[in-house]
Amino acid sequence: MSSLSVSKWPGIIKTYGDFFSVSKKTPVVTLQEGNTPLIEAPRLADWLGAEVELYLKYDGANPTGSFKDRGMTMAVSKAREAGSEAVICASTGNTSASAAAFAAHAGIRAVVLIPEGKIALGKLAQAMIHGAEVVQIDGNFDEALTIVRRLADEQPITLVNSINPFRIEGQMSAAFEVCDQLGGRPPTYHLLPVGNAGNITAYWRGYKAYREAGRIDRLPVMMGFQAAGSAPIVLGHPVAKPETVATAIRIGNPASWKFAEAARDESGGRIDMVTDEEILAAQGKIASLEGVFCEPASAASVAGLKRAIAAGWVESETTIVCTLTGHGLKDPDTAIANAPKPSKAPATMAGVCKVLGL
Ligand code: F0G
Repeated sequence: MSSLSVSKWPGIIKTYGDFFSVSKKTPVVTLQEGNTPLIEAPRLADWLGAEVELYLKYDGANPTGSFKDRGMTMAVSKAREAGSEAVICASTGNTSASAAAFAAHAGIRAVVLIPEGKIALGKLAQAMIHGAEVVQIDGNFDEALTIVRRLADEQPITLVNSINPFRIEGQMSAAFEVCDQLGGRPPTYHLLPVGNAGNITAYWRGYKAYREAGRIDRLPVMMGFQAAGSAPIVLGHPVAKPETVATAIRIGNPASWKFAEAARDESGGRIDMVTDEEILAAQGKIASLEGVFCEPASAASVAGLKRAIAAGWVESETTIVCTLTGHGLKDPDTAIANAPKPSKAPATMAGVCKVLGL
């Protein structure tokens, strides 16, 4: 018998609670989020033409299929601790899916505002099946966020967007895991997509907290990538009508804008943008070269790495981690539209062989 055994992963609060604002009294609401794979990606590195050790932090492997679960376990646990009976958020899809699931698990009410028609099918399905009250607004994410912020100010309902500090705390766990999975060191560069800018803020805080605690002895360079049609931080001004195929990051006025710039500047990194074509090409290559299916927004990290390599922003012989923030099954429509179509054959062996050229 192997000496390895399967044990129960207790979720990120029980694992990394020392770094969070929790106490023994906090009622932990967990779906056993976190502990996601860090997958080595040598074939993708070859495609990128880079002599580097490349890893994909596959946060699409979280219980609701995105990194949002890391922050949501904290936000909903703290909401319960405060006696709250309801949570609310604006979302491009993943936050609403996660809030709906954690609220269901806690037995409390969830209200989610989403932009009509611009949310990937899987995410809408999640919010609906978990029993959230889903409101599709005739506007974009930024407008939805303005509404829920005011509502949470005036009503006894807890806001669980990443303006909620507990969300950011929980999301720091991804940085802790990366360091632990690399054997107690950070990567040289960490690349990730940027939308509302909470996640780049959380990773940077997480790396800094881990160094302060003596778990690592240096910090990575942070690089964030927005979609070209939704790139307010790159352009230096809000974008009134953001557009991109990566609907998760279709955001024109990120709430954590200043913190994202701080992460960039303190780490000596960059925030740049990638086109929809680059995003879709990267999504296809991650899936076909490494067997990892992520949603379009997630692929902005790898599309960004391609840009960074071409521009000479990364040195060779280094360790690079790209976060894949959400699962590809979230958005089957985009995947089907951009992948090779199935061939058709008669229901005979000869017919199938003919199609396969065998
Ligand atoms: N990737 C995915 C798959 C996302 O869902 C998001 C954000 C991001 C990246 C960007 O992260 O906002 O922290 O910079 N989704 C939010 C939502 C906005 O409502 O689900 P960020």
